[in-house]
Amino acid sequence: MEHKTQTLLSKIATNDGHGENSPYFDGWKAYDANPFDLQHNPSGVIQMGLAENALCFDLIQEWIEANPSASICTRDGAVDFKSTAIFQDYHGLREFRAGVANFMSRVRGNRVKFDPDRVVMSGGATGAHETVVFCLANPGEAFLVPTPYYPGFDRDLRWRTGAELLPVICESSNNFKITEEALETAYENAKVANIKVKGLLITNPSNPLGTFLDKETLKSLVNFVNEKNIHLVCDEIYAGTVTNGDRFVSIAEVLEESPNCNRDLVHIVYSLSKDMGFPGFRVGIVYSYNDKVVNIARKMSSFGLVSTQTQYMLGSMLSDDEFVDRFVSESRTRLAHRHDMFTRGLAQVGIGSLESNAGLFFWMDLRRFLQEPTFESEMTFWRTIIDEIKLNVSPGSSFHCSEPGWFRVCFANMDDETTVIALRRIKTFVLKNKKLEIKTKRQCWENNLHLRLSSRRIDEIFSPHRMSPHHSPLASPLVRAQN
Ligand SMILES: Cc1ncc(COP(=O)(O)O)c(C=O)c1O
Repeated sequence: MEHKTQTLLSKIATNDGHGENSPYFDGWKAYDANPFDLQHNPSGVIQMGLAENALCFDLIQEWIEANPSASICTRDGAVDFKSTAIFQDYHGLREFRAGVANFMSRVRGNRVKFDPDRVVMSGGATGAHETVVFCLANPGEAFLVPTPYYPGFDRDLRWRTGAELLPVICESSNNFKITEEALETAYENAKVANIKVKGLLITNPSNPLGTFLDKETLKSLVNFVNEKNIHLVCDEIYAGTVTNGDRFVSIAEVLEESPNCNRDLVHIVYSLSKDMGFPGFRVGIVYSYNDKVVNIARKMSSFGLVSTQTQYMLGSMLSDDEFVDRFVSESRTRLAHRHDMFTRGLAQVGIGSLESNAGLFFWMDLRRFLQEPTFESEMTFWRTIIDEIKLNVSPGSSFHCSEPGWFRVCFANMDDETTVIALRRIKTFVLKNKKLEIKTKRQCWENNLHLRLSSRRIDEIFSPHRMSPHHSPLASPLVRAQN
């Protein structure tokens, strides 16, 4: 019966290209089945697998209240209802494109300008990626992607387009740097397999690493794609989340300094889902330096337009320079604070992470907790994290990490109280499971990583005379839940 139904449907409808079976989505299901709620379900699963930026909604709300005419759903804005409701041009509202171009510049410190006429809208970065692939590749052709990478790419770039992704293996021994050797190896492997490489896709800042690329690396990538005559697609959707003094370098800046680069090869994917925290508005952007791609992507955008109502409001909000600057700066401060709160808290119990200063997450190193250095052990330990610690963090294998034991921890989708509870749960677990520590700390340090490990011993940190009753692991919701 099942077989008969399947033959009635297309290959796309019946393959599992959506990737819903990956552990990345499994974790969400575990959360959905038992979601944490401070009042009503304090022992539920805390969602730390969602890269959402919920730290500055108060600023957005203030702006909306102060600008009632920006929304057609207010007394002041209702007069524009009709013209907004009937507008359906796939070029989008001029004000919207100008606002987005302005925002993209300001997030990048105004060091580079973006042309509103190159801004093509799409249904989130998800839709933008697919549109780019439809413009650049035929089914069976491939893009190289440095690992670890965002699991959604397997769906967004491959599922409906029929394109392939080939990994460029990056390793912890050099902080997951994208080296020329790794690129060449991936390119050669594709050749041997008789797969045509059409481009290189990078995510800068990286999801899941929370790091961003230096100018030298970006230049080497530009050289690589020029030499091979393939495309460079740069996902910069976390550009506004860089928190430390080092400044983020956009590919747009590198292009300004690379007169010999063939600009037709370069395309930026952007979205307001992360920097503004608006994943629900589905504002994705293809910004291509290639006129033909701009033209065809714009026509394709009919399949994923941003609602004119959303364009209308954002056109106004993103052109308000004072608001944008204050928002971006405050968002960075709050993200930095939350990032430090988490990584320092974990360091107190000897849990390290890759040094990072961007994104809505960090890359936690739990290698020493694995029974064996295998992906099976990673999955076993991940189940323990979900079932016992009741945290939905995402295992490295779902990001195609080449090395087991890394986990992505999202920290910007919750309030401070939940953060404290999540940290307390982890600390409690570590204390109870000291035996699990298979490797010694010394071995860990030998890994040549910038690990933020506390030099204090776990016993020292948790010795009873140091603990306030509030921080006692015995008061942890986890322990309460088990009693
Ligand atoms: C690197 C990266 N690209 C694209 C997306 C999809 O973003 P959007 O919500 O704008 O579709 C995500 C979402 O997490 C992401 O992390």
